[in-house]
Amino acid sequence: MGAGRARRIAVMPGDGIGREVIAEAVRVLSAVDRRYELGLEFEEGLVGGAAIDATGHPIPEQTLALCRRSEAILLGACGGPKWDALPRERRPEQALFTLRKTFGLYANLRPATVSSPLLTASPLRREVAEGTDLLIVRELTGGLYFGAQSRTGRGQETAAVDTLPYSAAEIRRVVRKACEIARGRPRHKVTSVDKANVLETSRLWREVATEVGRETPGVTLDHMLVDNCALQLVTNPRQFDVIVTDNMFGDILSDEAAGVIGSLGLMPSASLGEQPPGLFEPVHGTAPDIAGKGIANPLAAILTGALLLRYGLDHEPAAAAIEAAVHRALQDGCRTADLAGKGPALGTAAMADAVLARLH
Ligand code: IPM
Ligand code: MG
Repeated sequence: MGAGRARRIAVMPGDGIGREVIAEAVRVLSAVDRRYELGLEFEEGLVGGAAIDATGHPIPEQTLALCRRSEAILLGACGGPKWDALPRERRPEQALFTLRKTFGLYANLRPATVSSPLLTASPLRREVAEGTDLLIVRELTGGLYFGAQSRTGRGQETAAVDTLPYSAAEIRRVVRKACEIARGRPRHKVTSVDKANVLETSRLWREVATEVGRETPGVTLDHMLVDNCALQLVTNPRQFDVIVTDNMFGDILSDEAAGVIGSLGLMPSASLGEQPPGLFEPVHGTAPDIAGKGIANPLAAILTGALLLRYGLDHEPAAAAIEAAVHRALQDGCRTADLAGKGPALGTAAMADAVLARLH
């Protein structure tokens, strides 16, 4: 690289298929780095079960320090049966919550696009799935995931409580982010999803979202109840552009959206705060049943690399180049086992090779 300051990327593969797919994502990012002279520098850190095994902690201070001096974090996945018995605060998933909170990553972007070569991967009828191109913006640092929890009593008398707190400020910033993103997309449309007919936090959510919608010129914002949204996602997904919703609803709806496009193996994500580093990870998790076999679909991780370039480094051409290469590989019939049906399937590395060969 030239004289420019190196842009450090914290690479944290984590557990299960995280290791396999992140290795391929880094290969693709390195190729794009050479082409566009981005000056990327990759440095590995321990996270999740891998970190627990090595240090006893799901996210050691050394890893957090690496993240602090990086421009973006590329994460594989955390967790697995080996660590399931651990108490809550010592489980691998805790690393995710620590990262989300430490770096204030309140907006989680999960795009779901049915690309033409993969129309048959969707379990929905062609005429329903075709043209789906939506983006879920999930609030990621509040709500049920971070509210007070408690347990009292014993035996049949045991009771448990989760709480769902949201402030207007927390709602405002994530809805603003969704509106900002919608302005950059062709349809300029935001659907705010809540349960305002039941929950007080949702009534506040709706009030604040309405205000933000009014303040954002050129964007139309409407509201939908979450149960109806779950239905609409599988009956008429094309109607959606940007969906913005709270932490729990967003968790559920984004898995459903992955179902609409046909595989979790295709879904990337970006988690953003007010400043870098953002966190970029495939949505699929560790998939312990196929880990270590070299058959996992690397496309979600590779597409996550594209989001890292777009939202983390603000380099649209490099991001678009990766997405175009993935599209070409799919168009040419390249498929991993999750998408191949009865046809021939490529392994993890071969699929990444297919993308690399089509990177122009
Ligand atoms: C996700 C995951 C996590 C979440 C789990 C692993 C804690 O499902 O990122 O969607 O619920 O946030
Ligand atoms: Mg989830």
